[in-house]
Amino acid sequence: MSDGYDDELRARFGLDMTLSDDAPDDPALRRLLLRRTHRRYADRALPDALVRLLLAAAFSASSKSDFQQASVLWLQDRDRRDGLARLFPDMPWIGTAPVFLVFLGDARRLERIGALRGHAQDNGALEGFFNAAVDAALALQTCVLAAETLGLGTCPISVLRNRVREVAAILDLPDKVFPVAGLCVGWPMQPGFISMRLPLDATVHIDRYNDSGLPAAVDAYDRRRDARHSIKDRQRQPERFGTAEFYGWSEDKARQAMTPEGQGFAPWLKARGFTFD
Ligand SMILES: Cc1cc2nc3c(=O)[nH]c(=O)nc-3n(C[C@H](O)[C@H](O)[C@H](O)COP(=O)(O)O)c2cc1C
Repeated sequence: MSDGYDDELRARFGLDMTLSDDAPDDPALRRLLLRRTHRRYADRALPDALVRLLLAAAFSASSKSDFQQASVLWLQDRDRRDGLARLFPDMPWIGTAPVFLVFLGDARRLERIGALRGHAQDNGALEGFFNAAVDAALALQTCVLAAETLGLGTCPISVLRNRVREVAAILDLPDKVFPVAGLCVGWPMQPGFISMRLPLDATVHIDRYNDSGLPAAVDAYDRRRDARHSIKDRQRQPERFGTAEFYGWSEDKARQAMTPEGQGFAPWLKARGFTFD
């Protein structure tokens, strides 16, 4: 029997939570509760066989209707990787991670299989897009967790979608195949830190959606996060929003969301065969 994962829950939520006194002690669950993104990697190669093991784990993820609409592009070509990294100079880990994978929503394969079987269909409706995106996201996260199991560190990279036209040209993607996110993989240079999450009171609804407690929950969360790791000296766009006396997670995320991202993604998808009907 475990101690109820008290330390891990405190690390993740900044709260003393006793969720279960009789949960079995499980190292995989402890690791999962302590999961974290890594952006700096040791200068140490990953054997191809290890990457293939991670990919095998990734493709063990659940898949909507067993349609298997995720693909991965393992970007090994240095020139193409450098080309990709040059598009995002603020995120040097795209170029420096020992391994870079791109998780793709693949609505094309099901169409090709339909044509092969003599049942041609168009998979470009919203359902096809959404299912492919979800499959790719599940494979991505499964890969992340598999990597952490081996002591590796990862960082998903959705910024690719902000310049999807150039990214798709570098990756040479066919119609109806789109990037959901890249994934940097390597041996972590440092332990990293755990990103505190909103309390379950704010994210779990019993029987009926109810967010009436949100203002108080977010306020308390902002203060817990601030006490652990203040970001008051890293305020976004003070020239636009002013300098806040208390600058917490919610102010930071509200400001961040004021700058829209991925605006070229929908037109690009439509030009690549998606109708979203
Ligand atoms: C779908 C997805 C896309 C992400 N895209 C990027 C990215 O483009 N660049 C980056 O540096 N981090 C990216 N991240 C990492 C997040 O910033 C990170 O997960 C978040 O800050 C929470 O930290 P944690 O993963 O350590 O809990 C992404 C994460 C996810 C799940």
